[in-house]
Amino acid sequence: MRFVPRAVQPAVLEAARSFPAVVVTGPRRTGKTTLLRRLFPRATYVLLEDPDVQARARSDPRALIEELRVPVLFDEIQNAPDLLAYICTRVDRKPRAMGKWLFTGSQEAPLMRGVSESMAGRAAILQLLPFSLAETDRVSLLHGGYPEVLARPAGRALWFSSYIQTYLERDVRAVRNIRDLTAFRRLLAMLARRHGEVLNMTDLAAPLGVSVPTIGDWLHVLEITGQIMLVPPYFENFGKRLIKSPKIYLGDSGMACYLLGIATQAELDRSPFLAALFEGYVAAEILKSQANQGRRKELYHFRDQQGLEVDFLFPARDGGLWMVESKASKTVLPAMAGPMESLRRSIGKHGPVRMTVVHRASTTAPRSRGVAPGVEALDVREFVEALC
Ligand SMILES: Nc1ncnc2c1ncn2[C@@H]1O[C@H](COP(=O)(O)OP(=O)(O)OP(=O)(O)O)[C@@H](O)[C@H]1O
Ligand SMILES: [Mg+2]
Repeated sequence: MRFVPRAVQPAVLEAARSFPAVVVTGPRRTGKTTLLRRLFPRATYVLLEDPDVQARARSDPRALIEELRVPVLFDEIQNAPDLLAYICTRVDRKPRAMGKWLFTGSQEAPLMRGVSESMAGRAAILQLLPFSLAETDRVSLLHGGYPEVLARPAGRALWFSSYIQTYLERDVRAVRNIRDLTAFRRLLAMLARRHGEVLNMTDLAAPLGVSVPTIGDWLHVLEITGQIMLVPPYFENFGKRLIKSPKIYLGDSGMACYLLGIATQAELDRSPFLAALFEGYVAAEILKSQANQGRRKELYHFRDQQGLEVDFLFPARDGGLWMVESKASKTVLPAMAGPMESLRRSIGKHGPVRMTVVHRASTTAPRSRGVAPGVEALDVREFVEALC
């Protein structure tokens, strides 16, 4: 596949103009190295996965850093987080020299902690997620957004199985000493079946025969390696009792389809998981748009104990609140607007609220833009354009 420009590029370039250091994190195989090498072709390239470089980073970090000609691109900084303190010394010698220190890394949380401790205020942190539908039409519910899957869709089953294997063996073991990889793998399959449900750790622990704290640990690993999305509940004081747990989704719909054994579009169309898969796909597109704009990821769900449910709420770019209902059907009905209208009424007037029903794209079903007064219908493609 030829290089597809990434939506995050302007944010990365802007960060490189404003900060001495720029860090691009994200799940494995999303295109981090490709992106930074492309944007900064003249940067000295240091691959920290290379055992020789790692040995030097351990034995003589100061010399390693002093020798480098800036700009430098450190690939896979999670392998040598101790270098950050030495790099910081060099940054501080020329604090106004912007964009000279570039990093990629996976394992978001520990890496971010290292960066924020050692390079506080000197580094911009951006996240590169799998491709969004806004970046290429090859992205789909069935395939998800990993570049290598989109380049060779026919080989996707093999790709996902080796991704899980590599990922399980390397990253997961690096983060936690997980002995029972078989159970961990079964957790992934179970998460695919519970895609979009409110997280209940006890329910996950029992069938796997592990403790609730173990499930907590494993979910933590999946979260920091960018494999799951946890969508917390939206809290506003409505005087109602709310469900407090997050909803959980696998981050990539292609991965979820693979784990569910869905191999073709026809199987997907009749799958009982279609609605949940589509909901996760919409959530991923919202988070990708925020990450690509260099904004904080902020996405909520709403569910109260009276049964009122709205799939997603998030801040719109104009500062208002955006409510979204996702519907896997290709046609929209006025009833689909009901929950958003009720929620809007109970929130009262708190600034502008945009209400959208996002549905699957269809070439045959008639277009219907308005669902109800003040509620629009957008197919998923129109929706991602609106998010940009
Ligand atoms: N913008 C792009 N357009 C087309 N293909 C891409 C793009 N970005 C990445 N790829 C392809 O995706 C694959 C993974 O890219 P890359 O190695 O840059 O990812 P990464 O996030 O650095 O992975 P890792 O986590 O393993 O370091 C490569 O085969 C690359 O050619
Ligand atoms: Mg890389």
